[in-house]
Amino acid sequence: MSHNSNALEIVGLRAGYDAPDVLLGVSLHVGLNERVGLFGPNGHGKTTLLNTISRVIRPRTGSVSFMGEAIDDLAPQKIVARGLVHVPQANRLFPDMQISEILELAAYTRRAQEELKTNLQYVLELFPRLAERRRQQCKTLSGGERQMLSIGVGLMGAPRMLMLDEPTLGLSPKLKDELAIAIAEISSRGIPLLLVEQDIAFILSLVDRMYLVDHGEISREINRGAEVDHDEIMDMYFGSEGA
Ligand SMILES: Nc1ncnc2c1ncn2[C@@H]1O[C@H](COP(=O)(O)OP(=O)(O)OP(=O)(O)O)[C@@H](O)[C@H]1O
Ligand SMILES: [Mg+2]
Repeated sequence: MSHNSNALEIVGLRAGYDAPDVLLGVSLHVGLNERVGLFGPNGHGKTTLLNTISRVIRPRTGSVSFMGEAIDDLAPQKIVARGLVHVPQANRLFPDMQISEILELAAYTRRAQEELKTNLQYVLELFPRLAERRRQQCKTLSGGERQMLSIGVGLMGAPRMLMLDEPTLGLSPKLKDELAIAIAEISSRGIPLLLVEQDIAFILSLVDRMYLVDHGEISREINRGAEVDHDEIMDMYFGSEGA
């Protein structure tokens, strides 16, 4: 059952590659205008979850609705056309293409085509580093600049909601701060976010709520402002696996 105040609603999602399943019945929601985090250790199914939502992977059971409508039977490109845009983890993009070409190519749905000029201007304002480098080939970008381009590509798709998979992977603290400001600015335009992160400070600085992902299940939900014992979280997630 879908709820009017939710952008995304997931019920009982199971999915994987070869047996056994990676996702063991995930249920969660993201409200309109809400920023929600997914936090959990390597290999526990965060990327698999985003890939299942965007139908890169087909779930075995469970349902996903977006803006109040079931999207279970839609092809991935139809889901993008509806405005549910997934920025993948460590996106390699097109190494030999120029930044500006990649951004324009990313606006391939009809809605995105209509908004191409406005969105391109917005992306270049949001990420001045990309504006300066717009005639450079993608492969010449630094890791941080590539993450910015990756988010820019997502924005060129005219998102009604964005899913970001570990946008800060491998970035310096300074670049993380820049990215946090950009992500907050995107969200302030009313775009709901589902943000996968392993940097607990980064995620807590950005989200209204976060889910902890533990072995393919949601083990806990933490609201912004609730007392969070960082040591407890780190211990719960990384301590028991350690050396
Ligand atoms: N294409 C694939 N084929 C087979 N198994 C896969 C594939 N992709 C991921 N897996 C497995 O599924 C499990 C979950 O992986 P997933 O990438 O979803 O984790 P994650 O939480 O995103 O981890 P990380 O934080 O390292 O990105 C892992 O055991 C992984 O080895
Ligand atoms: Mg991942």
